[in-house]
Amino acid sequence: MTKQVAFVTGAGSGIGREIARTLGSKSMRIIVADINMEGAEKTVAILKEENVEALAVYCDVTTLESVQEAVKESLTHFETINVLVNNAGWDKVEPFLKSEPSTWKTIVDINLMGQIHTCKEILPIMIENGSGKVVNIASDSGRVGSSGEAVYSAAKGGIIALTKTLAREMARHKLNVNCIAPGPSNTPLIAEIGSYNQGIVQALEKAIPFRRLAEAKDIANAVAYFTSPEADYVTGQTLSVNGGLTMV
Ligand SMILES: NC(=O)c1ccc[n+]([C@@H]2O[C@H](COP(=O)([O-])OP(=O)(O)OC[C@H]3O[C@@H](n4cnc5c(N)ncnc54)[C@H](O)[C@@H]3O)[C@@H](O)[C@H]2O)c1
Repeated sequence: MTKQVAFVTGAGSGIGREIARTLGSKSMRIIVADINMEGAEKTVAILKEENVEALAVYCDVTTLESVQEAVKESLTHFETINVLVNNAGWDKVEPFLKSEPSTWKTIVDINLMGQIHTCKEILPIMIENGSGKVVNIASDSGRVGSSGEAVYSAAKGGIIALTKTLAREMARHKLNVNCIAPGPSNTPLIAEIGSYNQGIVQALEKAIPFRRLAEAKDIANAVAYFTSPEADYVTGQTLSVNGGLTMV
């Protein structure tokens, strides 16, 4: 049987890299799509050491043109795409009234428009195949809100709504579209936020019932489930992976 191909955005770092490794361990071939080519090449090197076929592709999810180019390059290399993991994301934590329009635009473009762009380009490939699995990475902030993350929460809430609608529209084509809402996770992104928000990590660890941040692997394991045959009858769902921080 030919190995499945997974297109993972933001796989040059943090959660995306771990998703790439976990799907690789499930016998998938991986397209590591990122704007950070150094990070993407590092992920590919890790995957190759683990005997996983992988390709680093430049992809700026904020523009449809860049996504189109990345998909074209991926198809030249691997012929098809069976799994799409929309993981690329970014945030700046600050009070809403102090935030600037340029920051709002960056946050919406990366987190929400990015997923719209990749779905537009990759869903038709899956429809042609007669199957496919999409996993969108949102955030618990999109379900319950989060102080200092107004626009990010709005973008992530948009991802949850996008997931539900695409799940309805794609069901007739036998595609599954699901969403994961990570809680605070131990990645370079949270380290960046911690660098200008002293004490935030300690405060979060105290608030989480399991008393630790998520590790990237915790999120990747949930992605593995949604992309597996065991989840063939699951679509339009949002799964929080957060150590019990919120329960919705
Ligand atoms: N870390 C957390 O606490 C946390 C919590 C909830 C949700 N999330 C979400 O998980 C996902 C992964 O986050 P992470 O913590 O691993 O972050 P990270 O910063 O470690 O990795 C994000 C990756 O996305 C890439 N990226 C950024 N802009 C891009 C663009 N325009 N096009 C393509 N790639 C781009 C970066 O280069 C980087 O490799 C994001 O969607 C984030 O919002 C993270």
